Amino acid sequence: MIGSVIPRYFVVAETMHELQNPTSAEKLLLLGRRLGLGRDSRVLDIASGRGGPALLLAREHGCAWHGIEVSPDFHAVAVERAAEAGLEDRVKFELGDGAAATFEPESYDAAVCLGASFVYGGLADTVDALAPAVRPGGHVVVGEPYWRRLPLPDDDDNRKEAWTTLEGTVVVFEASGLPVVSVIASSDDDWDRYETLHWQAVEQWLAANPGDPDAEAIRSRHEQYKRNYLRHQRERLGWAIFVGWKRS
Ligand SMILES: C[S@@+](CC[C@H](N)C(=O)[O-])C[C@H]1O[C@@H](n2cnc3c(N)ncnc32)[C@H](O)[C@@H]1O
Repeated sequence: MIGSVIPRYFVVAETMHELQNPTSAEKLLLLGRRLGLGRDSRVLDIASGRGGPALLLAREHGCAWHGIEVSPDFHAVAVERAAEAGLEDRVKFELGDGAAATFEPESYDAAVCLGASFVYGGLADTVDALAPAVRPGGHVVVGEPYWRRLPLPDDDDNRKEAWTTLEGTVVVFEASGLPVVSVIASSDDDWDRYETLHWQAVEQWLAANPGDPDAEAIRSRHEQYKRNYLRHQRERLGWAIFVGWKRS
């Protein structure tokens, strides 16, 4: 059922995030320029979250944006932010499961999935799912983690993830026939902003909601993520926006 898909932890932990990934407004604006967005552009955004990237780029370029987001909490924030920004005519946010959505073939200039390739079961399936929605000459854009350094320590909680190296990530695009034409990688500052906003939001929420039935589960997840970030993730895990070009 829609709404049961993401753990409540994320709704609590991301109440302060403008952008729900380790990136920045400057890097997203660079993405917009690399994509050549303009007033006639149409962009599909799978897992549009609280609408940060959509609103930033639609405001900058005047493009039309179609976001699909499964969390009712995040979707509601995105809709409200679009109204506040006066962008409802350009930006549409739909509540739903991205994996179940269908699109008119070749109807978008770019299809974007930032930080949510799990929606399709991984990067390769994400590229293959999004490419048909994009016109020839358009772009498939995925924000994805990659390993900066291998091997991984035995106690890294991220060991179970199917991420690969920077080169391996580019190879996945190429195996689907899309050369990667831009990589916009996260800095330590981007990671620290993204991760520590979780810490601030969760600590404030726990202080305000000590009796909430989910409080202990949220605290436990928060502590586990924080420890893993400090011990391993900050050093070993990269994240970048990869832009694949659909030549034809
Ligand atoms: C890391 S956040 C990224 C949000 C947004 N792309 C951004 O960059 O700010 C991942 C998002 O994926 C959404 N999500 C998870 N499963 C989904 C699904 N099946 N369909 C659509 N969105 C989904 C989550 O609710 C969350 O908003």
